[in-house]
Amino acid sequence: MTLRVGIVGCGKIAGNHARSLQQIPGVEVIACCDTDSDRARNFAAQYGIPAGVAGVESLLALRPDAITVCTPHPVHEEVVVAAAAAGVHVLCEKPIAVELDAADRMVAATEAAGVTFGVVFQRRLWPAAQRIRRAIDDGSLGTPILGEVSVLLHRPPAYYSCDPWRGRWDTDGGGVLMTQAIHQVDLLQWFCGTPVSVTGFIRTHAHGEHIETEDSASAVVAFDTGATATITATTAAAHNLGNRVTVVGATGAVASVLEYPEGQEGVNEIWALPGDTSFGAPFLGDESAHQDIGDINARLTPFHTLQIRDFVDAVREGRDPVVTGRDARASLAIVTAIYESARTGTTVDLTGVDLTGQPEGALS
Ligand SMILES: NC(=O)c1ccc[n+]([C@@H]2O[C@H](COP(=O)([O-])OP(=O)(O)OC[C@H]3O[C@@H](n4cnc5c(N)ncnc54)[C@H](O)[C@@H]3O)[C@@H](O)[C@H]2O)c1
Repeated sequence: MTLRVGIVGCGKIAGNHARSLQQIPGVEVIACCDTDSDRARNFAAQYGIPAGVAGVESLLALRPDAITVCTPHPVHEEVVVAAAAAGVHVLCEKPIAVELDAADRMVAATEAAGVTFGVVFQRRLWPAAQRIRRAIDDGSLGTPILGEVSVLLHRPPAYYSCDPWRGRWDTDGGGVLMTQAIHQVDLLQWFCGTPVSVTGFIRTHAHGEHIETEDSASAVVAFDTGATATITATTAAAHNLGNRVTVVGATGAVASVLEYPEGQEGVNEIWALPGDTSFGAPFLGDESAHQDIGDINARLTPFHTLQIRDFVDAVREGRDPVVTGRDARASLAIVTAIYESARTGTTVDLTGVDLTGQPEGALS
């Protein structure tokens, strides 16, 4: 059976979705939509999509089986809830939402409608990330005891000024944590367990002329496994040095997944398991300080394809996708707890909070 898919939001990342969907046998991209109707029409022409329409309702009226959501963060909820109401399966870009209550409503709406709901965290499909998860599961890394996230990115002023929704609390929901580092926070919690306490700091050092959200953040997270972890994230670096997630296990093993240049498939730069050790030398290339966003997105396309293919298979097989809406709440819970900690000057206790999601919105 052909799966008829629509794309909502025709901006920068939507190209990854179109290219990925068009590579998957048995999938037909029937339409795309954008509140900017010219953009929808141009995108449809660029990718040979039969219809480019102005709004979600017009797209849903074309009766797709599934949609993918590529709108700004706070718009994810209304689109996912509208899809659920129409009985349409939905794969949403990260972050799931910018508030946990909204994430709860999205999970509740899709579960009540019985539609498949996935969230794009394509870095989970990197072989290096999968290898770390396997080493935790098979005991060769052991229970994680320490984690480290490092996000050292360069963004020029134009990155913020060309998209008016970026860098504002109401339209972006956050800065480097919500938009960039949430990918690495997702990997961190996937490796280290359920977060139980969070202490964080946020600052705006370099981009204050253009944004009101943070461009830099530091945090400490404790997990139910006993692991503790640090998160360091910035878009204020003059050189784009990419992202790294490192985990130390109870066996003494150390493994990292490194993304450099940004968007390039993660590698096990450090793989120091007993009897199986290798070290990479990642920064010896001649990468320029500034990385073009189009190039970064293009490098990510193969892993969008893997996750979108998994979503299509999940719809066909009636199983959960690789990252469900419930799974996607954990990284949002950590990011929003860092914001709360920074605002209140306290440590945020997540003990006893159900991070898998509750219909009644147990988190605030
Ligand atoms: N997974 C990844 O690696 C990755 C990479 C980049 C962006 N993203 C995510 O993708 C989403 C979009 O990011 P982007 O960089 O493409 O943004 P963008 O600003 O380039 O595109 C967003 C588009 O959505 C449209 N839009 C806004 N409200 C709409 C609505 N109600 N209905 C239909 N269209 C609407 C805008 O007009 C715009 O064309 C964000 O959630 C972002 O975090 C994910």
